[in-house]
Amino acid sequence: MSDHSAPILIEARDIALDLADMNARKSLGKRPSIRILNPMSLTVRRGEIVGIVGESGSGKSSLGRVLLRLHEPSEGRLTFGGIDVTHCPEAELRPLRQRMQMIFQDPQSSLNPRRRIRAIIGAGLALDPEVTPKTREAALESIAAQVGVDSALLDRFPHELSGGQRQRVGIARAIATRPDFVLADEIVSGLDVSTQAQVLALLKTLARERQLALAFISHDLSVIRSLCDRVVVMRAGRIVEEGPCGAIFERPANAYTRQLLDAIPLPVPDPGWLDRETAEASPSSRSPTLPPGAPVRAAGNASPQP
Ligand SMILES: Nc1ncnc2c1ncn2[C@@H]1O[C@H](COP(=O)(O)OP(=O)(O)O)[C@@H](O)[C@H]1O
Ligand SMILES: [Mg+2]
Repeated sequence: MSDHSAPILIEARDIALDLADMNARKSLGKRPSIRILNPMSLTVRRGEIVGIVGESGSGKSSLGRVLLRLHEPSEGRLTFGGIDVTHCPEAELRPLRQRMQMIFQDPQSSLNPRRRIRAIIGAGLALDPEVTPKTREAALESIAAQVGVDSALLDRFPHELSGGQRQRVGIARAIATRPDFVLADEIVSGLDVSTQAQVLALLKTLARERQLALAFISHDLSVIRSLCDRVVVMRAGRIVEEGPCGAIFERPANAYTRQLLDAIPLPVPDPGWLDRETAEASPSSRSPTLPPGAPVRAAGNASPQP
């Protein structure tokens, strides 16, 4: 369970995001800007796992990038660890960067193919002032052990690993800098169900043990339900509903949230499935997914799974 009295790590107040419209024709030298996120407020506490859900194009990744301060908010105020980072220049953000990390969807393309796993994880460790050249090897092995990467794999290259192992390396690289906040954007979508369950269990353990706040973006409601303390439901650049995971799933107040839930063709497994031993999830316990861009169907329209 999340600790509701845990200190606030990220506070976004009335943040909006406008970007240069990549789809607009470039006339008069400057692209018109387009509103990607309407003013919205969100807090993330230390150690909290916040799920961000919504159909494709609803603004989940854009919100994630604002929380990481990869996008500068166009309106509102963003603080990280009590520091106002709203319009912070990149040079001033640099010392904060190691405290905020990202895990990518496709570790195949985000891990440098020419570097060994040892170097990939080691790059993160190099940013940790408490890791000295002497303690580096021990720190590396300890991180590898924590994420379940066999030390024999440290001298391999990314392409020599399985998808699940690569995702673990991506997680190891992210936590090596001892971040306070990690953004995971659709990271389990490409993995098979049992690997998915293992990666989710790992993330949950890491969040609890390291007091790591996690923003977990997914279109898969059952994954969100099993992992997250709190859920933010997005639609068309707005937060339409937000609250504790249990409440949102049991009593969705918003019609769109109800539609998202109704669009799941199978009953959502109960939320305890991840806590119980489900590393070997069978196909029958498979989490139903709403594919990106899938039309949100009204109740009764959902086609039953064969
Ligand atoms: N630079 C841009 N120019 C125009 N539209 C953009 C730009 N960046 C994002 N968008 C649009 O903003 C919306 C939200 O995108 P995104 O945050 O990636 O949504 P999600 O992650 O929920 O699928 C989408 O409609 C996307 O096409
Ligand atoms: Mg996205």
